[in-house]
Amino acid sequence: MHVAVLAFPFGSHALSLVDLMLKLARVAQETRFSFLNTEKSNSSIFLAARVTLPDNIKAYIVADGVPLNRVFSGDPIERVELFIKEAPENFKTAMDMAVAETGRKISCLITDAFLSFAGSIAENLSIPWIPVWTPVPHSLSAHIYNDMIRQRYAQFSYS
Ligand SMILES: *[C@@H]1O[C@H](CO)[C@@H](O)[C@H](O)[C@H]1NC(C)=O
Ligand SMILES: *[C@@H]1O[C@H](CO)[C@@H](O)[C@H](O)[C@H]1NC(C)=O
Repeated sequence: MHVAVLAFPFGSHALSLVDLMLKLARVAQETRFSFLNTEKSNSSIFLAARVTLPDNIKAYIVADGVPLNRVFSGDPIERVELFIKEAPENFKTAMDMAVAETGRKISCLITDAFLSFAGSIAENLSIPWIPVWTPVPHSLSAHIYNDMIRQRYAQFSYS
């Protein structure tokens, strides 16, 4: 088994995912975990948390999508948008690296739920996708109910 774990490298998202991965890696010692994250988020997690990775986890760097010589406007969303735009290709490149290095095909994707494109990568590889919701659960329930209310409302307004 080779599980690729794809992080959303903003806020505390990646840290929660690392926490889960460490627990899984402890109980599934035959499974190889490849942790894919940007360089900046990787070093802030592993320096701050002083985590030493067990032998069955290895981190790989994913490009952050920021073009060379980019001048930032100061809007914090800008980095997120640049990252997301290139994320499918950049994660696929890092996954290829992990496959080449381990000689094992990826058999499962565990990703931050924000990386919704991972569903179609998993589908293309015919492997399971496990999206993980890392923020507090209330925000997920707000999204879900918001959607339900809009669906119902749309239904009533057209009938
Ligand atoms: C991730 O960050 C840690 C801490 O700075 C560093 O030791 C490690 O080499 C980094 N991993 C990669 C793949 O660069
Ligand atoms: C999945 O495969 C289709 C068809 O080859 C391709 O167009 C699409 O970009 C792939 N999706 C991802 C996220 O790689």
